[in-house]
Amino acid sequence: MRALVLHPALRSAQKAPAGSDRRQPEARLEEAAGLAAAIDLQVVRSELVWVSAWRPATLIGPGKVEELAAWIAENPVDVVIVDAAVTPVQQRNLERALKAKVIDRTGLILEIFGARARTREGRLQVELAHLNYQRSRLVRSWTHLERQRGGFGFLGGPGESQLEIDRRLIGERIARIKADLEHVVNTRSLHRRARQKVPYPVVALVGYTNAGKSTLFNRLTAAEVFAKDLLFATLDPTMRTVRLPSGRNVILSDTVGFISDLPTHLVAAFRATLEEVIAADVILHVRDMSHPDCAAQAADVRDVLQSLGIGEDSRHRMLEAWNKADRLEPEARANLQNQAARQENAIALSALDGQGCDTLLQRIDAMLADDRVELDLTVDAADGAAIAWLHRHGEVLDMREDNGRLKLSVAMTQAEAGKWQKRQHGSPA
Ligand code: GTP
Repeated sequence: MRALVLHPALRSAQKAPAGSDRRQPEARLEEAAGLAAAIDLQVVRSELVWVSAWRPATLIGPGKVEELAAWIAENPVDVVIVDAAVTPVQQRNLERALKAKVIDRTGLILEIFGARARTREGRLQVELAHLNYQRSRLVRSWTHLERQRGGFGFLGGPGESQLEIDRRLIGERIARIKADLEHVVNTRSLHRRARQKVPYPVVALVGYTNAGKSTLFNRLTAAEVFAKDLLFATLDPTMRTVRLPSGRNVILSDTVGFISDLPTHLVAAFRATLEEVIAADVILHVRDMSHPDCAAQAADVRDVLQSLGIGEDSRHRMLEAWNKADRLEPEARANLQNQAARQENAIALSALDGQGCDTLLQRIDAMLADDRVELDLTVDAADGAAIAWLHRHGEVLDMREDNGRLKLSVAMTQAEAGKWQKRQHGSPA
């Protein structure tokens, strides 16, 4: 499929002082083209389109539309990607003028999510987001296109317009997916609970798309997972057990690739998937230090984390993997390593050649050790609920029976230990 990629930008932004916008329009265009290529579109032309003011009818100016239409007439494309929020009316007008399918940024991201979803849950989430998107477009754009449809009683009641039928069908499909999704999510939380019985701490990998999460995941787990030079290779969490230098096991969880300007409703749609991150003991932020937009990407990732409620108070469980160090010139690499060495929470490494990965594992080990306490406890041997709680929330290292009492030695995080105290002493939780 041949694609034309446009990134419209306001001319006034061109004059804005450097650094006022996190990411320059050129970089945004490049990112959009990269995303299109990631879903196997052949980008035949990509272009920055400067506009003096957004046009309600076509977003970009009529002269530009005409020029593009003429170009497309000579060089047919299957889809035009307009990397912006395009209203349904603008979309329809552009499709008419350009004689090609037009999708906007949300549409593009949904396509990518759709192509990358690897689990049933992921696919359902994408479909749900897609339907919600379609429904919002229906309501606003088709109002004047309403047709009366007669005769097919099974498709709609008498006098039900095409718009109403479409809206109803989408509504029904949404309701069904929500029910399916709930079922899948319930199953997953059962799995999560089962996993908690093996109380390994969870280390969740997050990062901008293409930062190298899958590569690092593979390196650390020495497992074969989908890792290509594709954006969004990961949509659904993948879990593997990793043994740290101390012998402690952790579960490494590879999660979604983040992206700039991820529409908020999409973040909401993937919340269930991101729950692994919210609940993780360590959040490992993988960064591509060789990327010119590295700082902006990190800021975008922090924004997404913030929207999930992971902010400053999570600093103690955040670690940054400064990846792709191998791509830097020797001097820049040495600088990076020095800088990382001065920081408590950063490690310079290369997921590709493995340099620095041992240090990373040691750092994760130390981080978890800081947070781990060992408690010697005595509970009534008949108190099944308490014993189950300890197994679920901690790692039972030793357990002996002594005159109807159980003596346990349990390792758990500070937070869990606090919960245990509250549970035992009945103070309000
Ligand atoms: P998404 O799944 O899209 O979020 O991407 P990701 O963060 O999982 O990235 P992935 O591991 O797929 O890596 C993206 C590209 O970067 C691949 O071509 C990797 O080979 C490359 N890459 C990853 N780590 C390194 C590294 O340390 N050095 C170099 N030179 N390339 C790397």
